[in-house]
This record gives sequence, structure tokens and C-alpha cells, in this order.
Amino acid sequence: MNLKLQLERLFAASLQQLTGLPDVPAQVARSKNPQFGDYQVNGVMPVAKRLGRNPRELAQQLCQQTPLGELASRVEVAGPGFINITLANSFLDQSLNAWRSLPLLDAAERPLTVVIDYSSPNLAKEMHVGHLRGTIIGDAIARTFEALGHRLLRQNHFGDWGTQFGMLITHMQEAAQGLPLGSQLRDLEQFYREAKQRFDADPIFAEKARQNVVRLQSGDANCLAMWREFIATSVEHCEELYRLLDISLERSHMMPESRYNERLPGIVAKLESQGLLTESAGARCVFLEQFQGKEGEPLPVIVQKSDGGYLYATTDLAAIDYRCNELAADRVLYVVDARQSLHFQQVFAVARQAGFATSDCSLEHLSYGTMMGKDNKPFKTRSGDTVKLVDLCHESIERAFAIVSSKNPDMPEKERRRIAGAVGIAAIKYADLSKNRNSDYVFDWDTMLSFEGNTAPYMLYAYARLCSVWRRAGVDLAQFQAAVAVKAPQERELALRLLQYGEVVETLAEDCLPNQLCLYLYELAGSFMQFYEACPILKAEPAEQSARLALAKATTRTLAAGLELLGIRPLEQM
Ligand code: ARG
Repeated sequence: MNLKLQLERLFAASLQQLTGLPDVPAQVARSKNPQFGDYQVNGVMPVAKRLGRNPRELAQQLCQQTPLGELASRVEVAGPGFINITLANSFLDQSLNAWRSLPLLDAAERPLTVVIDYSSPNLAKEMHVGHLRGTIIGDAIARTFEALGHRLLRQNHFGDWGTQFGMLITHMQEAAQGLPLGSQLRDLEQFYREAKQRFDADPIFAEKARQNVVRLQSGDANCLAMWREFIATSVEHCEELYRLLDISLERSHMMPESRYNERLPGIVAKLESQGLLTESAGARCVFLEQFQGKEGEPLPVIVQKSDGGYLYATTDLAAIDYRCNELAADRVLYVVDARQSLHFQQVFAVARQAGFATSDCSLEHLSYGTMMGKDNKPFKTRSGDTVKLVDLCHESIERAFAIVSSKNPDMPEKERRRIAGAVGIAAIKYADLSKNRNSDYVFDWDTMLSFEGNTAPYMLYAYARLCSVWRRAGVDLAQFQAAVAVKAPQERELALRLLQYGEVVETLAEDCLPNQLCLYLYELAGSFMQFYEACPILKAEPAEQSARLALAKATTRTLAAGLELLGIRPLEQM
């Protein structure tokens, strides 16, 4: 069900017929102001200009020619040549009633193969707040593509390779004589810090570390075994967090850097054979004209160091080759921190130049801003340390527990804990999802746990309130099948919003901005509240009651489905 697309197609067909121009879009958009109807056709002016015709006249003709039938109650030309469309209440009824027996979303007409690289933490350290946003946002985007019937492939591009592991292995070898490794690695952050301190302070340690990198990369069994042990522990840390946050990443989505290792010589050889490599201070680089530093000096993409080692960019080139050519991706999405945007511009450009990415495969860096503290500096603990994500989640749950307890002092503790668990996690996720990912965002407990505004508690509460309507009406939601009959303006407003779900989700699959879906769900919940106040359900006459319950059912389904796309589990009772 996509109203916008329906209108777009109708108007585009008759615009093409009228003008003889193939492929002219009607440019249908939702009207910003109810005064201009529900939808607007904006595509007449550019076409009129192209043909040297009077735009209002053309718009007038287009209105007469387009077979809207029962769809609209009013169609009028406005301003220099816009067309404003007001949908008929009977059409809203029909559409909603047809929707009852349909899936909430239409399956994509042209299913794409979409690869999404998200979360992708470095395993040398514990996952930190910098990865939290990407993990949450990426997960919502992945769920959305799946729900639309695309072939969606998750790739967790763990950083599990590189020089840091030499240092960690050396520290493991020496520390292993003391405590058992399992207990030492319980605090990975601490372990990393200790290793780094020794590396910086002790030249003998540093030399051993460098030797271990070489051993590891040349396949030394002992080094590999220690590396594997370290990686396994670190992956478990990530998985604990994924479980806690209900993130859909699994083992089968793991595609860490080390898995590309064997492909790297081939990548460099291909660049070489295409004449793209330049040697600079012993390192092998690709220089592309479009990348220059501040002084206009050429900026290289280094693919192999003078000691033969490969780099982050080399692995990314191999990953692009794999994703485009073996996975046959139509789109490859990278949900990664904005600070890596130059890296992605460069590897995308090199990949195109070298043919690792075919021209029909779209490479997209979906960047996100930094999570800031209330002091507007990157989020840290009071002592300036990085915040552990597990601690962050538990704190959120505890805070939610205090709020739930103060609101429902009589509820059994077990129940309050259950609700707090869901609210605490939803609050962290929703706070992130509801902001435009491109900007930095301020992490603030009070706002994210507030029951007012576009927040998780508000959304969950709105959903639980809907569920309580069903309980109080004594009607089984699953069995209920009555038809909608829109009359009051608040009913109309709610019906129209409901029917816009499909177009919102389809837009999300285009621009990958989950905050638009949050905003939609927030407005939907608001429309429901207004409708519920103006049009009582429980006290209504039977016929009116079932028509209103039908609207409530569509709202319940839509809210639940929307929250699920965001990776948030709704609660039936709060
Ligand atoms: N491991 C990297 C980091 O923690 C992110 C990897 C993103 N994905 C990629 N294909 N480069 O910064």
C-alpha cells in the first residue's frame, strides 16, 4: 500500500500521454499544509517550461485527463501550476479495509541484493560508544530491507587483524604465567591498556611484539592459537552486548578482516597490472587526482607498506571485490562513523577505477555523527574513560526501573523488572534512532527516559495504552475483522497516516534515515491519541464502536510492526 506511488503512476501516465514525453515524473509529494490537500503534484511546471507551455493550462488539462475515479474528493490547480489532491473518505475506507487481509508492506517490485556492513568493531579492545550508534542504526536498516523482501546480507567486518595483535599476543604470553587467561581477558579494555603501556615503555617487549606480528601473519601455529583465543573471548564480549540490545547479528554474519587475508596479494597485483600503483618511500600507493591535501599535495591510498604489510584500505578493497562480484550486491551499505568518510571516498574511487566495483553496484557510506555528553564533548565517564557499553545498558535498565517503580509502586517487583528491562534498552536504541544519523547527538538520560516527546517510553506507553483498549473492550485483536468507516476529522487524519506507513518504510530503504520512521510512528501515536479523545471507543454505539476499533486495530498492527523494524519490542502492559 503506497498512496504516493499510486498517485505518481496515475499522473505520470497521463502527463506522458498529454505531452508525448516519455519518462516525465509527476513528482507527487505529501502536502505540508492541509490547506493544500493531502498530496500535491509538483511535476507540471518543469515539463511546461521544457515545452514552452502555460503551466496552469497544462495542469488543468492533466487534472481533466487523469482518471482518479473514486480516489479523490477534490482536485484543484493552485499557484503557478501545482495540483492539490484531497483523497475521498470512501477511498481511505476502501484502502484500509483492503489492507486488513494484506501484509503491512508490499514486497519490493524489484528485490535487490543489499549488503550491509555494520557494527564491525575492532576486536583488540572492547566495543565502545563509537560503535553503539552504528550497531543500532545498522540493525534497523537491515530489518527494514528484509521486511521489504530484499535479499539482505549482513557483514560484520570485525577488525581482527593488524599490528595490535602482536602486542596483545606478547602480553598474553608473558601474563599467562600468572592468572589463567580467561579471567585476564574478562576486562579487555584493561588488558589492552596494560599491553600498550608495556609496548610503549619496554623496547624488548616492543621488539617481541613486532616479531609476533610477523609470526602471526606468516601462520605460526603458536601465535595463531593465542590469537584465536583472544578473538574468541572478544567476540563473546560483542555477542553479550548484541543479546542485551537485541541486535540481529549472528555468527554467520561474521566476516572479519582476517578472512580477506589471502586475497590481498591478488588485489595489489590487479592494481599493479592496471598501472595504478606508485611507489612512495617504499610503500605501494594509489594516487587519484581528485584526492588532494590542504596544500594541493596528492593524497595517496596506501595499499602495502614497505615491510610488505597490508592496510585497512587494502582489506576494504578486497571486501568490495567480494561483495560486488561474489555476493552480487546491487547496493553495499557501510554504516560507519563519519570520521571515516575520506577513507570510504578513497576506497570507493579506487575500487571503481580498478573494476573491483562494477558500475551497477552502488557503494554507500551511511555515516553517523559522534555521541556527545551533556558537556558537548565526546561521551566519556566522569573520570574521562571510555564508557563500557554493557555498563551503559545496565545503567539504563536501573534508571528505567526507578521510574517504573515510582509510577507503579504496587506492581510486583518481577513485573517492574521485566518492564524496566524493555524500557531501558528501548530508550538507548530509540534515542539514537530518532536523531538524524548525520549529526552528532547528545546522550542525555533525562530526555531519553522521559515519557513525553519522541522517546521510547512515550512510544511504548502509547502502544500499551492501545493494548489496554482491547482488553477493556473485551475483544480479541486477532479475531477482530470489522470495517473502517471514516467520519470525524480525527478519524480521517488517523486513517491517512496509517495508509502512509508503506511510503515511509520504502523511503527509509532509499535514504536509510530511520529517524523518519521514528517521527512517523510518533505522529501516528499522536494522531491516535487525538482520535481516541475525540471519538470515544468504549462508550460508542455498537456500529460506531466496531468502525473505531477497526482503526485501532490498524494502528496497533502498524505501531507494532514499525517498532519491530526499529528493533524495539513493544510491551502489551506497562
Ligand atoms: N573496524 C572499524 C572500526 O572500528 C570499522 C569497520 C567498518 N567497515 C569497513 N568495511 N571498513 O573503526
